[in-house]
Amino acid sequence: MGKRVLVVGSGGREHAIVDALSRSPQVEKIYCAPGNAGIAAQAECVAIKDTEVEQLKQFAVEQAIDLTVVGPEAALAVGVVDAFRKAGLKIFGHTQSATRIESSKEFAKQLMVKYDIPTAAYEAFDNYEAARAYVESKGAPIVLKYDGLAAGKGVVVAMSIEEADAALRDMLLDESFGKGRVVVEDFLTGPEFSLMCFVRGEEVLPMPVAQDHKRAFDGDKGPNTGGMGAYTRMPFITDDDIAEAMERVMLPTAKAMVAEGCPLSGVLYGGLMKTPDGVKVIEFNARFGDPETEVVLPLFDSDIYDTFVAIATNEPLTEPVWSSDATLGVVLASKGYPGHYEKGFPIRGIEHLSTKVYHMGTARKEDQLVTAGGRVMIVVARAASLAEAHALATAETEKVECDNLFHRSDIGYQAFKK
Ligand code: AMP
Ligand code: GLY
Repeated sequence: MGKRVLVVGSGGREHAIVDALSRSPQVEKIYCAPGNAGIAAQAECVAIKDTEVEQLKQFAVEQAIDLTVVGPEAALAVGVVDAFRKAGLKIFGHTQSATRIESSKEFAKQLMVKYDIPTAAYEAFDNYEAARAYVESKGAPIVLKYDGLAAGKGVVVAMSIEEADAALRDMLLDESFGKGRVVVEDFLTGPEFSLMCFVRGEEVLPMPVAQDHKRAFDGDKGPNTGGMGAYTRMPFITDDDIAEAMERVMLPTAKAMVAEGCPLSGVLYGGLMKTPDGVKVIEFNARFGDPETEVVLPLFDSDIYDTFVAIATNEPLTEPVWSSDATLGVVLASKGYPGHYEKGFPIRGIEHLSTKVYHMGTARKEDQLVTAGGRVMIVVARAASLAEAHALATAETEKVECDNLFHRSDIGYQAFKK
């Protein structure tokens, strides 16, 4: 009998997961909770939020769901996996205690120090005076990370002591982030890349590496965002770099989590930097990256249901086949994002695109597709070379008609630098 799958989440990442599952010959029916207007073309959307664990569980039981796949960290951090497993339901994602590798920066840093996994030197503080003294002893640039899930907004790269001090006051005195601790770490340099792996205990299967673009505008200018585009096949990350990242970072981390009694059972995302002293960890995430997933999963040429279910049931993994093509994705965001923006603008023309389009924040209003979020959609081109993928993504992005969208035009520029 065909398999019935529930995907939890509502962004471009979940659209890419739904798309990959829809290519599985075993999968007969896909639900997505809560999903979005684009996902609705490929899955039946259900009005349950990603953190409504009881409702999700009840839905999975009532609908005889064979497998649930979790996108967002918020759902993992509230223990959706633990709850499903307790009820005997199959689910892909990490337990609450394994999710600490993302939800607690300090947990992640302590793990790396204990198991000799390369990362920037650090100290953690909950006292402003002590943090300030440490920052002064280290000098600038210096990096401050608020300890807790902060939706990517909890990191400040301070270029001066004054900037660092202002951030410390924010984080430790004003409590604008909620009461917490701050990890202060050394500033590293080098190209950044994302290495996502499927992990089952000590078993680790890498996906193609990708690079995100966090700043809002061309030339990496403007404020930090959730990601304005991504691409694969970066020429400056070699097979040797990937082998080093696997041997020094991803495999030892998976082992360490087993040794700590919280084995991984989902995606481990390494936010890595190729520094002059080798590959080092900037951060770990306990889930698929966004927008990296939107450029990586289109290259998955095996049956992804098998991979998800093997991890969910703790069975040995089969090495999947990946296409050697390149992909490049351009995010279309609402004008004003990541600050204030308006919603509800009609979007036309996407039916003319020859590329994939994953929806991030769209809705349907009286049968018209409209903008409904900061990041609205990502146009993902795939081609034999990165240059072709770039040209295709650029051309196709122009076909999207909407009065309130902007996008970067330099996604992948580090690969094209002479
Ligand atoms: P995040 O918001 O956690 O994704 O990280 C924000 C960005 O801060 C990263 O993508 C890096 O560019 C930068 N960053 C974080 N830690 C360091 C570090 N130790 N040295 C230099 N840059 C860093
Ligand atoms: N692309 C960064 C993240 O998913 O957190």
